[in-house]
Amino acid sequence: MNAEQPELKVKRVSTRKRPRERLRSHLTPARKKGTGRDKGILNGLMADQNPTEYCSDNEDLFGDYDSILGDSSLMATLDCVEQIARKQDLQQAVDSKPVDQPQRGFTELRSLKNTCLQRPSDDHLTDSILDVFKDESFEDLPAAPQLDLDKDVLENLKTTEILQEHKTSTPLRNKERTSEDRTKMGDKNTTEGQTFAGFSKARRSMTDHLKRAMLSNAGAPSTVSRTKVLKEAVVSKEINVAMQAMETVSTVTTDLGPFFGLPTKVKELIYKLRGINDLYDWQKTCLNLDCVRGRRNLIYSLPTSGGKTLVAEILILKELLCRKKDCLFILPYISLVQEKVRGLAGFGLELDFMVEEYAGSKGRFPPVKRRNKNSLYIATIEKGHSLVNSLIENGRLENLGLVVVDELHMLGDGSRGAIIEMTLAKVLYMSKQTQIIGMSATLGNIKDIQKFLRAENYTNDFRPVQLSEYVKLSHTIYEVAPKEEDCFKFSRLLNFKYSSSMQKMDPDHIIALVTEVIPAYSCLVFCPTQKNCENVAGMICKYLKEEFLVLKEKEKGVLLRELRASGNGMVCPVLRKVIPYGLAYHHSGLTSAERRLVEDAYSSGVLCMLACTSTLAAGINLPARRVILRSPYMAADFLRRSQYKQMVGRAGRAGIDTMGESILIIQDKDTTMAKKLVSAPMETCYSNLTHNDGKGVLSLILSIIGLNASNFCMTTTLEQVKDVMSGTLLCVQEEHLCVERSLSDRVQDSLVFLQEKNLITVSQCSQGDTLKITTLGRATYKSSVDLTHCDMLYKDLSKGLESLMLNSHLHLLYLVTPYDMIAQCKPDWMAFFRQFTLLSASEQKMSAAVGVPESFVARKAAGQTVKKSVNMASVRRLYLALVLYTLLKETNLWSVAERFQLSRGFIQTLLSSSSAFCACVLHFTEEFEEFWPFKSLLAELTRRLSYCVTAELVPLMEVAGVLEYRAKQLYNAGYKTLAHLANADPNILSNNVENLNKKQANMIVASAKMLLNDKASALQEEVDELLMLPLDLPMA
Ligand SMILES: Nc1ncnc2c1ncn2[C@@H]1O[C@H](COP(=O)(O)OP(=O)(O)OP(=O)(O)O)[C@@H](O)[C@H]1O
Ligand SMILES: [Mg+2]
Repeated sequence: MNAEQPELKVKRVSTRKRPRERLRSHLTPARKKGTGRDKGILNGLMADQNPTEYCSDNEDLFGDYDSILGDSSLMATLDCVEQIARKQDLQQAVDSKPVDQPQRGFTELRSLKNTCLQRPSDDHLTDSILDVFKDESFEDLPAAPQLDLDKDVLENLKTTEILQEHKTSTPLRNKERTSEDRTKMGDKNTTEGQTFAGFSKARRSMTDHLKRAMLSNAGAPSTVSRTKVLKEAVVSKEINVAMQAMETVSTVTTDLGPFFGLPTKVKELIYKLRGINDLYDWQKTCLNLDCVRGRRNLIYSLPTSGGKTLVAEILILKELLCRKKDCLFILPYISLVQEKVRGLAGFGLELDFMVEEYAGSKGRFPPVKRRNKNSLYIATIEKGHSLVNSLIENGRLENLGLVVVDELHMLGDGSRGAIIEMTLAKVLYMSKQTQIIGMSATLGNIKDIQKFLRAENYTNDFRPVQLSEYVKLSHTIYEVAPKEEDCFKFSRLLNFKYSSSMQKMDPDHIIALVTEVIPAYSCLVFCPTQKNCENVAGMICKYLKEEFLVLKEKEKGVLLRELRASGNGMVCPVLRKVIPYGLAYHHSGLTSAERRLVEDAYSSGVLCMLACTSTLAAGINLPARRVILRSPYMAADFLRRSQYKQMVGRAGRAGIDTMGESILIIQDKDTTMAKKLVSAPMETCYSNLTHNDGKGVLSLILSIIGLNASNFCMTTTLEQVKDVMSGTLLCVQEEHLCVERSLSDRVQDSLVFLQEKNLITVSQCSQGDTLKITTLGRATYKSSVDLTHCDMLYKDLSKGLESLMLNSHLHLLYLVTPYDMIAQCKPDWMAFFRQFTLLSASEQKMSAAVGVPESFVARKAAGQTVKKSVNMASVRRLYLALVLYTLLKETNLWSVAERFQLSRGFIQTLLSSSSAFCACVLHFTEEFEEFWPFKSLLAELTRRLSYCVTAELVPLMEVAGVLEYRAKQLYNAGYKTLAHLANADPNILSNNVENLNKKQANMIVASAKMLLNDKASALQEEVDELLMLPLDLPMA
C-alpha cells in the first residue's frame, strides 16, 4: 500500500460518449373527428381514494402517496371561461388588424374568416409541433416569425373549415330527435314552434360560440396542407382496414394491417419520436402471438432494458385506434407516470387520442366521457385502482379495452401489491371484454400469476446491451457465473494506489471502482441509506483531481443556479460541493425539483456519477456504463433477488450505452448470501391481500359490496363475495398463504370485522346471508380512507364541527393531516414551542381543544417531565399541522424544513400526502349530511395543498412534469398560461428558458397541447350535456 500520497491515479480516457439528442419530435395538434360516439355526461365527483402508501426510508421510493383531487372540472371550467374571455378580446383586436398580419394562437377564438387566413406550413414539415407553430405567434408570446399567405391553400382551407363548421358535435340521437320534434311541434302550434326555433337558435349560437372558441381552435389543426390532408386520408383508410380485420380476427390471421394492424404512420412516429426504426425480433414475435391477436390476456417477461414498453405501447395504440376503446397504463411511481405522459402526448396529438395523467393530485373521477376520442389513462397503482372503481360505479368499465401493468412483480410488494391485485381482480370479474397485459423483468412464479390473470405467457432472455455482472471481495473482482460450481469466477485484481488515510476513508475501494469509468462514462452507485449516498458522493469528490472541475464547467454552473432557484436561494451544501466535480446524490430526501434537475443533468452528461438509493432502480432509462452496489443491503435488510436485478439492470440501457457492467461489493461474511443472491431463481411473488392483518381482503370485500350497491343491486350475497374472492391471486396461492385459516374462513372473519366496525350490515333471508353497505362503509370505500382509521376520522370530524375554528387554516389542516404520517414525526420541542407562541389566541384555544395545551409544549421545550397524560398522537398531528400551516403561508420548503428540523423531502411528502388525504376526507364527508359545511372548505383546501405555490404558477404546473422551479422560469420568460405553452414554438421556448433542451421543450409543448385539448373537450361535453334536449320531455 502506498502511504506517501493521498493521490489516486485517474486515467484520462477519450471524450465522453453520450447519445446524441434523439430526433426532434414532430407533432401536430389534435384533430377533431366527428364519429359521434357516446354522449358525454357532466363530470360528477367520484369519491374514491386508495390506502395511503408512504415511502419508508428503507425503501426510499418516491413519495407516491396518491390521491384523487376530486373533480377539477370547476377549475377547468373557470380556466377555460377566463381564456375564452381573454381570447375574445384578443379576437376583436385581431379582427381589426390588417388581413396580412395574422397572429394566431392555438386556442385563439377564430372566426371563419380568420381561420381562412391561416397559412399552411411547408409540406414535409407540417406534422411537427416545431413547425406547425413555427410561424404562429400568440398575443404576448416571445416573438416568432410572421406568416405569409398562400391563396391556393387558403381556398382549400376555407372549404375544409366550412365543412367543419357544418358538423355538429351534438349526438345524432338528439339531432334526430330535435328535427323530429321541431316538425311535430311546428305543425301543432306555431307559437310553440317559434319558441322551439328560438331555443334551438339560442342553443346553436351558444354551442357554436363555445365550439369555435374551444374545439375549432384547440382541437383542430392551426394549419392544414394538402399533404397533411392526404396523409390523414391514408391513415384513416388504414385504420378502417385494421378495424375490419380486427372484427374478423381469428387465430389463423397473421396480418392485420401494415404495421401490426396499425397505420404506417405509427411506425413513422415511433421513429420520429423515439428514434426506433425497427422492432427487435422478440417484439415482432410477441406482437404476432395468437393470444395477442386474439386479445387474450398476456404476461411477458424479459430482462431489464429488453424493450418491453414498446410492445405494450403498440398494443395500447391498437386498442385506441382500431377498437376505439380506452386504455389504462399502470406504472409504479408518479415520476414514471409523468415521464410516460410526456412521452406519449406526441402520439396522442398525432393520432387523435387523449393522454390523461392520473398521478399525484391529477386525474378526474369519473373520467370525462368523450364522444369523439378515446383516452389513454396513465396512472399510478393507487390512481389506477380508483379509476377502475369509478368506471365500475358508473357502468363504464366495458369501455376500457385494455389494462397494462408495468412491473407486474409489484403484486408481491406489500399494500401496493394488494392494490394491484384488487384492481385486476375487479376488472377480471366485472368485464370479460377488457384485456389485461402485464410485464416484468423479475417474475419467479409466472404460473401462479398466469392462473390468476387467466393469461398466456411469453418469455425471452433477450437483452440488447450485454450486461456483465461482477462481485468485489477484498481486492479481487469475480465474475458472476451461476453455472460454475463456486458461482464466482476470478476476473482480475483491482488496480489502484491508495494511501493509508485513503484506505481508511474508503475501505471498499469505491473511489477506485468509480474512477475506472468516470468521467468518460457514467456510473451509478446504489447505497443502503440516504446518509450513505451523501457520504459517498462527498468522499469521492475529495479525491478527484482538479481536472474534473473544468469538464462541463458552464453546464454545472447552470445546474447549481437552477438548484438555487428551485430552493428559493438555498442549495444543499453537499450538492454545492460535489456538483462541480460532476457528482451528485439522489434519494427521496431531495425535493422532486432537485431530483428532476439532478436526473436531467446526469442524463445529459453534465454529471457523471450519482450515489443513489433504490429511488433510481425501477424502469428508468439513465446512462450507466457501470452500476456499483455499495453493499448487499438496503437499510438493514439483505437485498432480495428482484431488487438486485432491478438495480444492476440500470447498467447498459439500449440506445444509451453499448455495454454495461455491475459490481456488487461484498464482505467475507456476506459471501454465502451473496452467492444465493446472484444465482438463485427469481423469488416467488405472493399475494398481499393478507398483508397487514388482511387489510386487502377487508377492503376488497367492502368495495365489492359498495360497488354492487351503486350498480343498482342493493344487496350482495355471500356467494357473490366468495365468487370475487375466488378470482384473486390469494385464492390461487391459498395453499401457501392460508395455512392456518382457509380463504373461506378469512372471508367470514372479515365480514364479522366489517360488521363490528359498522361498515356493513348482514341479514338473513331465504337465499342465505345478504350484505349491505352502511353510510360509514360507503364513505370509507369511496374515499379509500384506511379501514383502521375510518371511525376515528368520523369522530374527529364530528368533534371538529362542534367548534370549528375558521379564522385561520390551522384547524382544517389538523383535520386533514394524515394519520399514517403521525408515527413518522418526532417533534423538535423548541421549534414546536416557538411556533406555538406565534399562534393567535383562538388558534391556541383550538390546540387546547384537540388535546395539546400550551403548558404541555412549554414543559417539553424546557426539558421537564410532564405528569399529565396527553395523547401523543394529537400532539404529533398538531406539530405536522403547524408545518403545513407555515408552508401554506410561506411556500418555502427549505426555510420551513429548517425551522421544524425536518428534511425537505419529508416536508414535501407530508404536503403531497396531506393534499391527497384532504381529497379523501372531502369525499368521506360527502356521504354524511351532517358534514355539509366541510364540502366547500375542503375542496378549496385540497386545491391549496395540491399546488403550494403562488397562484400564477398553478396553470403552468398543471402540465405533466412541470415543477415549481420550471414554472417560475417559464413564467418569467413570458409563458404565463397554459395557452402560452400550448402555442409555444419549442425552438424559441428552448432558447428562452435556461437549461431547457429541445427535447424537453417539445415534450412540454406537447403535454400543454394535450391538456388544453382535454380541458376544452371536457367543457364541450358539459356544454352538450347541458343543452341536450331531454329524451323524456313531456309532449303536448
Ligand atoms: N426495437 C428497438 N430498437 C431500439 N431501441 C429500442 C427498441 N425497443 C426499445 N428500445 C429502447 O430500449 C430502451 C429500454 O426499453 P424499455 O424501457 O422498454 O426496457 P424494459 O424492458 O421496460 O426494461 P426495465 O425492465 O428495466 O423497465 C429504451 O430506451 C427504448 O427506447
Ligand atoms: Mg420497463
